[in-house]
Amino acid sequence: MCYIFTMKTVLTGVKPTGSLHIGNYFGAIKPALTLAEKYEARYFIADYHALNTMKDAAELKNAIRGIAAGWLAVGLDPEKVVFYRQSAVPEIFELATILAAFTAKGLLNRAHAYKAAVQRNVEHGDDEDAGVNMGLFTYPILMAADILLFNADVVPVGRDQVQHVEIAQDIAKAVNFNYKKNLLKIPEALTLENSEVVPGLDGRKMSKSYDNTIPLFSSGAALRKQIMRIVTNSQGVDEPKNPGDSQIFTLYCLFASETERLEMDKRYRAGGMGWGEAKEELFRVMNRELSPLRERFNAFISEPDHMDAILRDGAEKARAIASRTLAGLRSAAGIG
Ligand code: TRP
Repeated sequence: MCYIFTMKTVLTGVKPTGSLHIGNYFGAIKPALTLAEKYEARYFIADYHALNTMKDAAELKNAIRGIAAGWLAVGLDPEKVVFYRQSAVPEIFELATILAAFTAKGLLNRAHAYKAAVQRNVEHGDDEDAGVNMGLFTYPILMAADILLFNADVVPVGRDQVQHVEIAQDIAKAVNFNYKKNLLKIPEALTLENSEVVPGLDGRKMSKSYDNTIPLFSSGAALRKQIMRIVTNSQGVDEPKNPGDSQIFTLYCLFASETERLEMDKRYRAGGMGWGEAKEELFRVMNRELSPLRERFNAFISEPDHMDAILRDGAEKARAIASRTLAGLRSAAGIG
């Protein structure tokens, strides 16, 4: 008896903006790498999406390298995962043009990012479309092309991106309906945000927009300094503390072993441990996990040619897949 397994495909894109933090590590990178063990994975750097907001070439280039080095340092295996830059796969842009012909303008008028920009303008008494470029307006079409070109079954995304995956579904259905053929696979969004809520320095969800992040690859000394900045209540050393109320404990649990967690829980409740000591303990477990990652990150950053070669290789594999989908579609459309 012979079984043929066809693995399902997981695909996601990451925008190269700013540097990676602990929230990205637990909320996006680690879950994506876990998914890559069970699925055919295609992960890419959405550099054309970033161009909408980043117009400084050096800054964008650095951000792209930072994201690539970060994912590789955490453990993305380019032999297993097709890892590429969106900009290196021209088929994506060709597909985006085809998809635009099937996308109602009204669908894009309702997309959150555009709607929010319009609303801000209206509130400020400005022209509705002030500061809105076409890249922002057509963002969901490009994202649909990213997804549909690679026959993705599941698309892990943050909650704010679910609507974009739904738009990709709508566009794919319009294409399939028109040509009466299942040319494009209908993708499903997989919301990652419930998996781990990582608290930031102030106890709210760690997020760049709250300015409360702990960078993933800062030096040991800088990491320790960040941890010392975590906001605490005014309980004294001797007072028993409720671990459930403390973001220091929540962060500790993300990095500690089961035994360490139980032990620390007891120490909080017993009293006799001040916040300073709790922070030192947090630093110890965090640095234990992050220092090898930091070393790998720095090694990748110092060898941009090596990284570029990995991404070039990934783009080649991606283009081989992409050209098949595109050829089918062009031929169905009568332009093949
Ligand atoms: N828009 C996504 C974000 O801002 C990034 C992205 C671009 C993406 N293309 C994608 C995510 C395709 C999933 C699939 O986070």
